[in-house]
Amino acid sequence: MDLDGSEQDPEVKEYSPVCVGREDDIKKSKRMTAVVHDREVVIFYHKGEYHGMDIRCYHSGGPLHLGEIEEFDGRPCIVCPWHKYKITLATGEGLYQSINPRDPSAKPEWCSKGVKQRIHTVTVNNGNIYVTLSKEPFKCDSDFYATGDFKVIQSSF
Ligand code: FES
Repeated sequence: MDLDGSEQDPEVKEYSPVCVGREDDIKKSKRMTAVVHDREVVIFYHKGEYHGMDIRCYHSGGPLHLGEIEEFDGRPCIVCPWHKYKITLATGEGLYQSINPRDPSAKPEWCSKGVKQRIHTVTVNNGNIYVTLSKEPFKCDSDFYATGDFKVIQSSF
């Protein structure tokens, strides 16, 4: 008998935590990729913290697991290897630099486009890493590449 009801309710199942690997391994490799309920994600281990997000960049589907992590405005970001978009690890915001065209002497400032990359929850239990997919109801730009025809991993059913 299914006590937690997850067999009857696909939504409950879709948002259940999935074990993606061992803490020891990601601490060495600093990143890992996984498929969580048919969604491709990347998990970064950076300065003692775990961050999970959709693996395909919101801009044009670039492979974020191949990008470098750099800090901009004091915020750790993954830099997409395709067109160098900067995405904050903690929140999935797209960062860009802007300058006031009416004030040429002004210094460029870092600004946020808002949350563009969907962030997923990473937890550790007994040395295992778990990812729980984001349930946030807003439409995130990275959803486009994580679902439907654009996702790389196709469902087997
Ligand atoms: Fe990532 Fe263009 S695909 S910056």
